[in-house]
Amino acid sequence: MSNMIALIGAGQMGSGIAQVFATAGFRVSVYDISQKILDKSKIRIAHSLAKLAEKNQLEESPEVIANRISYVGRMSDLSESQIFIESAFENFDIKSNILYEVANYLSEDSYIASNTSSFSITSLAQMLPCPDRFIGFHFMNPPPLMQLVEVIRGYHTSDETFQYFWDLAKQLGKYPIASKNTPGFVLNRVLIPMINEAIYVLSENISSAEEIDEALKLGAHHPMGPLALADLIGLDTVLAILKTMQKELGERHKYKPCPLLEEYVEKGLLGRKTKRGFYEYEETLQNNPKEMRYQRRFHSKN
Ligand code: CAA
Repeated sequence: MSNMIALIGAGQMGSGIAQVFATAGFRVSVYDISQKILDKSKIRIAHSLAKLAEKNQLEESPEVIANRISYVGRMSDLSESQIFIESAFENFDIKSNILYEVANYLSEDSYIASNTSSFSITSLAQMLPCPDRFIGFHFMNPPPLMQLVEVIRGYHTSDETFQYFWDLAKQLGKYPIASKNTPGFVLNRVLIPMINEAIYVLSENISSAEEIDEALKLGAHHPMGPLALADLIGLDTVLAILKTMQKELGERHKYKPCPLLEEYVEKGLLGRKTKRGFYEYEETLQNNPKEMRYQRRFHSKN
């Protein structure tokens, strides 16, 4: 397998996926149109690698791994790559436009994947000249810690492309599962309605945010509660996935986003990335990766 990966979109998922590839020995170019997001991506990755090194979970030093990653602001800088992974915000037009542009830099042996959480791989493939070499390759947040990768074939995806990504997931130390090309695939189809329901429980004043989260942690052994998890995923992403499921699965009520979720998104309270969602977060000492951490405070309003 070639050693060159292009990661398009340097948000929390793109950064995490880049880190996973670099840790497995691949060279990675992370692309974003925003220099600020690229700078933040670098800090995020350094912080995560430092954490994993502290726990002896890396086979190489964080510096060696981080040095495999370069950060670029022009898509033309990705033209040497063999594998292109789109990991932009969960918006169909944004993803389609990126794939349309990526098509200019593909060679005959390129593979292309989308980390979409919910969109049709067959529809996204329409932007590409080689839909047989395109697939859904969906990581979970935070990618360096979560084992699962969903591998989703579109209508045109070839057997060879599927096998390539299946083997790639294993090479990255992940556990792949195959999913049909259906909105939300497997994990989000189950998880996102649960998060939405937790937001309804909050909006109906049945319990406080902290108690709802404790209920799932202590009562169902979830590692974190659904509201804290929504803050981690990003409330805008949760809403985007729900809307796709509502529209595409034709279940208007089952997947209806809770109005409180829509209100938070409208106000720009998107979770950890804006430091406020169902909880408030303080990001400390951004310039020192070892010291950067999120501190969660209970959101007094609820
Ligand atoms: N890299 C390295 N270490 C990390 C890390 C990262 N990205 N994120 C957290 N950690 C470390 C923390 O630094 C902390 O280390 P210490 O114990 O040494 O302090 C440790 O992990 C625990 O972290 P927290 O104290 O912050 O605990 P947490 O509960 O807030 O987070 C967690 C840890 C791994 C995220 C765990 O809670 C968990 O597994 N939560 C569920 C995550 C989940 O469900 N993900 C799937 C979301 S759905 C999705 O992603 C699909 C989609 O399309 C939306």
